[in-house]
Amino acid sequence: MNRKYRKTVIAGNWKMNKTPSETKEFMTEFKTIMPKGRWCDVALCVPAVCIPAAVRAMRETRVGIGAENCNANASGAYTGEIAANMLVDAGCKYVILGHSERRAMGETNEDVNAKVLTALENGLVPIMCVGESLEQREQGITEEWITMQIKCGLRGVGEDKIRKMVIAYEPIWAIGTGKTATPEQAEEVCESIRTVIRKLYGAKIARAISILYGGSMNEKNAYDLLAQPDIDGGLIGGASLVPEKFVKIIEAANQPTI
Ligand code: 13P
Repeated sequence: MNRKYRKTVIAGNWKMNKTPSETKEFMTEFKTIMPKGRWCDVALCVPAVCIPAAVRAMRETRVGIGAENCNANASGAYTGEIAANMLVDAGCKYVILGHSERRAMGETNEDVNAKVLTALENGLVPIMCVGESLEQREQGITEEWITMQIKCGLRGVGEDKIRKMVIAYEPIWAIGTGKTATPEQAEEVCESIRTVIRKLYGAKIARAISILYGGSMNEKNAYDLLAQPDIDGGLIGGASLVPEKFVKIIEAANQPTI
């Protein structure tokens, strides 16, 4: 990370876990042990039905609540979908877009791009996810693949809007597998993402954008990952479901030594 130029963001992605009642329990516990860190932004992205409980519980805190997806359209006949303005009205600050688990359900780069544009228009902070499969890594096409995801996902995003975004690098082979990318592997890709942003938007914006790592990040490996110069935070699945573990990751991000 580099606190001088950009924000550190520790974000939880609960995926399809926890009911609204369990959300309330988590937040009560989390609030009592939450570090008073000044250095990092904390986000919790939760299932849509848990958003009201999460927002209510975190109202007086610095923790931002987010969603895990949104629809690209403003409104209309899209049964079961949720529009960006609904998330804003419900109190969300963030929205995860393009997670590999959603891409695996058929979401394309074009879909992700449309959602990013809608989210930004509505004032949400998109956490746009990119990442390669094990097969792609073994074929040596990680950089090309991720460059394509970034370029396609950011199409039409102007200089004024890109500053509001967060990018998350999540290698698919590291998600939920307990197989974390080494700090060097994660840094290499995060650095190349920053290079792509530099080519698209210039050095000043590239220096200011927060790039997170996600994929089996936990209370044990967080410090070493966050100590890398181009890793500005984490997008955390499993470990964000347990207050003590999530808190330890926030504490790692708050260490003055990095
Ligand atoms: P895990 O931390 O459970 O590997 O999940 C990572 C992830 O997909 C966060 O979006």
